[in-house]
Amino acid sequence: MSFPRPWPSSLLLANTLRPLRTLPPPRSSRTIHTPPNLSGLNCVITGASRGIGHAIASHFASLKASCFLVGRDRTTLSAAASSLTASLTRPKFTPDINYVVIPDVASAASWEEIAKACPRPHIVVNAAGVSQNRVFLRTSEEEWDKVLDTNLTGTMMGCRYAARQMLRMKNGGVIINVSSLLAVRGGKGAVAYAASKAGVLGLTRALAEELGPKGIRVNAIVPGYIETDMTAAMNPAVVKSVRDRIPLQRFGTVDEVAEAAVFLATNKYANNCDITLDGGMSAALSDPPKGGSSQVVVPH
Ligand SMILES: NC(=O)c1ccc[n+]([C@@H]2O[C@H](COP(=O)([O-])OP(=O)(O)OC[C@H]3O[C@@H](n4cnc5c(N)ncnc54)[C@H](OP(=O)(O)O)[C@@H]3O)[C@@H](O)[C@H]2O)c1
Repeated sequence: MSFPRPWPSSLLLANTLRPLRTLPPPRSSRTIHTPPNLSGLNCVITGASRGIGHAIASHFASLKASCFLVGRDRTTLSAAASSLTASLTRPKFTPDINYVVIPDVASAASWEEIAKACPRPHIVVNAAGVSQNRVFLRTSEEEWDKVLDTNLTGTMMGCRYAARQMLRMKNGGVIINVSSLLAVRGGKGAVAYAASKAGVLGLTRALAEELGPKGIRVNAIVPGYIETDMTAAMNPAVVKSVRDRIPLQRFGTVDEVAEAAVFLATNKYANNCDITLDGGMSAALSDPPKGGSSQVVVPH
């Protein structure tokens, strides 16, 4: 059975015979290359003192969003805010970068502080997280609690703050949660971490359904191995063994993750959208890691 073509066959033939470079650009190319403008939008980013959260804040601020960097250490956070401001300031543009010091993303009191500093959030990014590098039977209940509290409860509290404030604003909004490849694949040496990040995906999915009708989109980024302090702590031999299993043969950069956050923030149809950024590693994870079966390879 043949399907009707949406274009005349004469055009098809002409385009086939014409050298590729003379083809007209796709009609949407202008839209694709115009950077989004986030002016007037307030973005709250946890874990923004460094790594992925910091890069996301940098990208959002460069697109003119007002950014609220959330972190635990005043000195680190204030230095991060100052360096962002210095790097993004241009002759006709001064970025709007604020910071909020909190004790812990997993404490309700912290979110009250954040709500005071930013009562009208349009975009909330939950990037704060801690890693783990210990096999299951050596993982204490304290370590389990710390990982689950920070990565899952902290993200839930960020979503709750976002949902409460955005529902009051009655204008929708976007939540972006940072999960991990370990939420969906493997997890040796990081059982608590994998469980917490799988929880983040479940939370994202359920909230996308619950809040979508209110115009609040809830999405996730699922990074593989990204160059940050978290992965800098890895043993060099393990780094090599992991890198060998990534089809693109390298770790990702924080800017590559931040680009995904910009997409999720600005694409109006993205809801329950998980962007996996792993250089293709998930396609190859069935291969056993090199370097011995007792080696823990997953410290993020
Ligand atoms: N790097 C990777 O390869 C990778 C891969 C997959 C997923 N991820 C996820 O991506 C996110 C960012 O990772 P990263 O590599 O950028 O990490 P990072 O460089 O270690 O930074 C972690 C950030 O989280 C903050 N944080 C940690 N515990 C906190 C708490 N209890 N309350 C408030 N803030 C807290 C830290 O703040 P302080 O400065 O106060 O310590 C820091 O800003 C994490 O959720 C991580 O699990 C990372």
